[in-house]
Amino acid sequence: MGKEQIVEALNRARARELRAVREYMLYHYTAEGLASPEIIDLFKDTAKVEMTHAEDLGERINYLAGQPVKDGDEFTPALEMKGMLRNSLKLEEEAEVMYKDIIALCAKEDDPVSRLLMEKILSDEEEHVDTWRKILAAA
Ligand SMILES: [Fe+2]
Ligand SMILES: [Fe+2]
Repeated sequence: MGKEQIVEALNRARARELRAVREYMLYHYTAEGLASPEIIDLFKDTAKVEMTHAEDLGERINYLAGQPVKDGDEFTPALEMKGMLRNSLKLEEEAEVMYKDIIALCAKEDDPVSRLLMEKILSDEEEHVDTWRKILAAA
């Protein structure tokens, strides 16, 4: 029972990471001509980090004998710069809340390995929140 709950939570997280990869990749192209090269690169680099999260989650799900989801969550993309930055910040703030919830679940179900992985991912998401917050404040 506990293991299924964890697999379900990891799959929810994976669907969200796949969405983040697609959203950041899209912004990487959409931001062309609208943002500084640094911000364009940030979209690209963040997409790559989110891809490692999706991959790590998939491997863990596989180890727990679950089936990793194929599709990412849907999203409504922004077309102007501020909107892209606001969406990015929201995406990361929501990820923080989600990973904290999954960490609590892993603790409750006594799965320290999944918990450690969630903590590692959470620390990346915290960094992302910080990055977008600073850029938005300066925009
Ligand atoms: Fe992520
Ligand atoms: Fe992130």
